[in-house]
Amino acid sequence: MAIEVTPLTPTLGAEIAGADLVQLDDDGFAEIFDAFVEHSVLFFRDQPALTEDQHFAFAERFGEVHVHPFERLGGRPSASGVKPGLLRIRTTAESTVAAGNRWHSDVSCDEEPPQASILQLHEIPPVGGDTLFASLYAAYEALSDRMKQYLDGLTARHSGEDAYRRLFKMSTVDPSVGWPEVDHPIVRRHADSGRPALYVDREFTHSINELPKEEARALLEFLFDHCERANFQCRFRWSANAIAIWDNRCVLHHAMWDYWPHERRGNRISIKGERPIGWRLGHDQVPADRQQSIVRLTA
Ligand code: SIN
Repeated sequence: MAIEVTPLTPTLGAEIAGADLVQLDDDGFAEIFDAFVEHSVLFFRDQPALTEDQHFAFAERFGEVHVHPFERLGGRPSASGVKPGLLRIRTTAESTVAAGNRWHSDVSCDEEPPQASILQLHEIPPVGGDTLFASLYAAYEALSDRMKQYLDGLTARHSGEDAYRRLFKMSTVDPSVGWPEVDHPIVRRHADSGRPALYVDREFTHSINELPKEEARALLEFLFDHCERANFQCRFRWSANAIAIWDNRCVLHHAMWDYWPHERRGNRISIKGERPIGWRLGHDQVPADRQQSIVRLTA
């Protein structure tokens, strides 16, 4: 299989043509994986509606499937009968909340957050419902040297409490068990590209361990706004049965809920990731064959 890779922006995102995701051999997967590491988000159009088994088989090419805390702690699989690891994404006229309608990296509150997520949308609204992506490599690289020094070695607390309990109104099955909370480095080293990426998101990151509360809040607000700048983004307009794969280690995403009262529906499977490793400024080097971001901000 020779795939055709068309970048959406110089920073992130590429559309892939010529890929058969159902009958993928090792060489075909290697091509897709290289493009994934290079572009951080891949989009596939003209795909058949994957059966759940086909979706799982493609996801398992990347690694073991990640089981969402909704399922591990919230009792969702027994209630829905859905195979663990498969998340139904569905927003209708009756929905009071839409999954992903805020900038985030999937489940960054987990100790080992998912490395990648694979979403296929089967039903899309007539217009709207795009997904936006922002490069956390570009966001880090565009910071000043002084800010990079300041962030060096800092760790942030990520918590699922606000998103899952308040927003999604989900309780854990055992009330004595809370939603996941964990500390991660603010700048992480990507295990496959070797590049540094900021690793904070508005949905889950709520404090910085080494700073007083007010300083942490001000710094986090700056970092959230910075990561979400249009300069680091691409935007995907869905077609029915298109598939998106994003790298949660170096990309934020935002599912835009601008299509009420229409329905938007599909399936998502995420793949387990490793515990994030901090980038060590002055020690770690970006591999020579890895392109740095070329986004320049006006001073
Ligand atoms: C999500 O996984 O956060 C939802 C993405 C989307 O529906 O576009």
